[in-house]
Amino acid sequence: MIKGVRGAPDILPEDISKWQYVEGVARNILENYGYQEIRTPIFEKTELFVRGIGEGTDIEEKEMYTFLDRSQESLTLRPEGTAPVVRAYLEHRLFAGASLIKVYYLGPMFRHERPQAGRFRQFYQIGAEAIGSDSPAIDAELLSLLDHLFEELGLQDIELQLNTIGCKACRPEFRDRFTIYMKSKAGRLCPECLIRLQRNPLRILDCKEEACQKVTAKAPRLSQVICEACSHHFRDLEGLLSLLKVDYQVNEGLVRGLDYYTRTTFEFINPALGAQNAIAGGGRYDGLAEELGGVPTPGIGFALGMERVVASLPPKFHDRQGSYHGVYVATLGDEAFRSGMLILQELRRKGFRATIDFEKRSLKGQMRQAHKERYRFCVILGDEELREREAILRDMEKAQQEGVPLSGLVDLLLDWKRAKGV
Ligand code: HAM
Repeated sequence: MIKGVRGAPDILPEDISKWQYVEGVARNILENYGYQEIRTPIFEKTELFVRGIGEGTDIEEKEMYTFLDRSQESLTLRPEGTAPVVRAYLEHRLFAGASLIKVYYLGPMFRHERPQAGRFRQFYQIGAEAIGSDSPAIDAELLSLLDHLFEELGLQDIELQLNTIGCKACRPEFRDRFTIYMKSKAGRLCPECLIRLQRNPLRILDCKEEACQKVTAKAPRLSQVICEACSHHFRDLEGLLSLLKVDYQVNEGLVRGLDYYTRTTFEFINPALGAQNAIAGGGRYDGLAEELGGVPTPGIGFALGMERVVASLPPKFHDRQGSYHGVYVATLGDEAFRSGMLILQELRRKGFRATIDFEKRSLKGQMRQAHKERYRFCVILGDEELREREAILRDMEKAQQEGVPLSGLVDLLLDWKRAKGV
């Protein structure tokens, strides 16, 4: 038997309601905040991600699904959504119509990471990008959107970690000082950090090894060399977050794994998730459009990991999904089945969740099924009822039933649906 690929899980029907729920709430909030959906392809030219995400990052070095297609062009399955969105923004000159463009996307991303709980090779993100403004008010709006989304989903004890990593004026000096310090401590670094020291020294800040963390705790910090403009930007952002009552902690070690970031960076953490506890991350990328060969354009965005957000949903969500709704058509005999099919068709066209028994089960068996699948009503049709042009309508939740004329049955259910909103 052929099995699925490791790290690329199936999302089964029994779990899909949670996914659709998160997607529905997210779409609604994103659209209320002025974001419109954009869909970019699942693969792009490899060069886009090499230039966008940056050489020497973990993603570019060892995690990209890169292949030559039949015309020998190097393509890569997208490991993230920001570089493709900025590419589309530049390619279609979206800046021509408005100074600020706000877009969101949902879909699968691909990274060849070591699979473990909460870390996959194909995983889903919901992301958003606001391109065209460097105002800290956009940063504050984006963070308060995520705060709102996680609150609406009922997630508990989520922490926002925030940092600024400077700009092209102050970051190089920080990087130089940091690198000089790290070179002086090279003997205490793990083998992986020794490689980082050559290729991308600031990534040492991300290392989870205790020995490396001890070294980085005493390393120079950006706050010692930050330029006035970045410092001002961060102070304004902090002021707006406190105005909007969005809680956060400053974490100067938060560097993130993609090279395009400038100034604001952040992660939302659910400590209950264990090792892979970042449910969303993002930040500013004021130099990315230029890096991709376009007009210099500031931007900021985020992406949340669907698997991790779904795993963070509270138990109360399950109760809501378990409520009774819709109509089960139970029939006895061929004639009743034919009438049942007509009623079923009408119910579905009127917007009901509805089904019928196709397996000629006993009435008791059909009732059991209706209960199991949590249908609110059962329409019971037998030969006798048909002769009287009647059906029995049973309220499965209340365990009450009554005879109803067939001619008024669907209208009665519609009235009930309108009144109860199910
Ligand atoms: P990222 O931090 O690489 O950022 O990913 C965002 C989120 O995707 C993570 O916080 C995590 O929840 C989820 N995620 C990442 N890798 C995996 C994985 N292997 N398995 C499961 N979930 C994962 C970005 O992708 C940036 N494009 C975000 C952004 C948008 N920055 C600016 N705009």
